[in-house]
Amino acid sequence: MKHLLSIEKLARTDLEDILAASAVMKRERGQAASRLLAGQIWALIFSKSSTRTRVSFEVGIRELGGVTLFLSSREMQLGRGEPVKDTARVLGRWLGGAVIRTFDQTEVEEFAAYAGIPTINALTDAEHPCQILADLFTLQEKRGPIQNQVVTFVGDGASNVAVSWIWAAAKLGFELRVAAPRAYQPPAELLRRAGGNIVCTEDLPAAARGADVLYTDVWTSMGKEAEEARRLRDLSGYQINAPVVKLAQPGALVMHCLPAYRGKEIDAATLEAHAGTIFDQAENRLHAQKAVLKWIVG
Ligand code: CP
Ligand code: NVA
Repeated sequence: MKHLLSIEKLARTDLEDILAASAVMKRERGQAASRLLAGQIWALIFSKSSTRTRVSFEVGIRELGGVTLFLSSREMQLGRGEPVKDTARVLGRWLGGAVIRTFDQTEVEEFAAYAGIPTINALTDAEHPCQILADLFTLQEKRGPIQNQVVTFVGDGASNVAVSWIWAAAKLGFELRVAAPRAYQPPAELLRRAGGNIVCTEDLPAAARGADVLYTDVWTSMGKEAEEARRLRDLSGYQINAPVVKLAQPGALVMHCLPAYRGKEIDAATLEAHAGTIFDQAENRLHAQKAVLKWIVG
């Protein structure tokens, strides 16, 4: 039984297979319909807001012949304290698979362990694997082999998106720089476990200089709203804007997982100047997730 619980737990060969299959899914979309999920009902169980992940999974599962069931955990008994392992053992009797967005990483892991059906992490506080698969696919589509690229992540270096980038860099062997204030650096223990060529610094200009890709994520992730005022203060020097882009390679890509908060992690002009890349990146969520579904049921 395969699951996509994190980039950390994904084998390098599987990661590479999913990236290769993403290109095929994109190329063949709308042609000979693949019915990989025919007869299956997949649940999307979300405890946090979502636009891209929810809709791209609903579209992708249906394009592969499956049926989707969107469940907000607030409206389930989960929201009133029913344990994840009981929910998992019930839903596993009926469903073909589950796509889960929640807070604690242990919840998706426990669901996968008890449900007996393929389980996909659609974002937890720890990782956002589907996002990073789409990002890697986008980067390769635009720039070729990722091993030669230098990617600079700017902002909350301990966010789920940053952490998934760290595991991707360690597995695929490209240089990742993380520019973040000291209190927002990735945990040292995680960096030790990941290994790879990962440079963490508080010096944004140094991290941006010569980079092939500048990448950012929101300063205040879902679940951290109570820290918003402090985060705005602490992260104010870590915006992607024209002076930062100027330090990167000429023609460097600017990427953003979205949603974007203009004037915070990126300024409006930079976002619009790079909208072509950023919305291709968003589109690619669909193709990469269809590749994940193919890998998981294959
Ligand atoms: N990037 C991303 O996961 O977007 P949503 O929160 O809209 O799903
Ligand atoms: N780090 C962000 C990603 C949103 C797609 C969050 O968790 O809210």
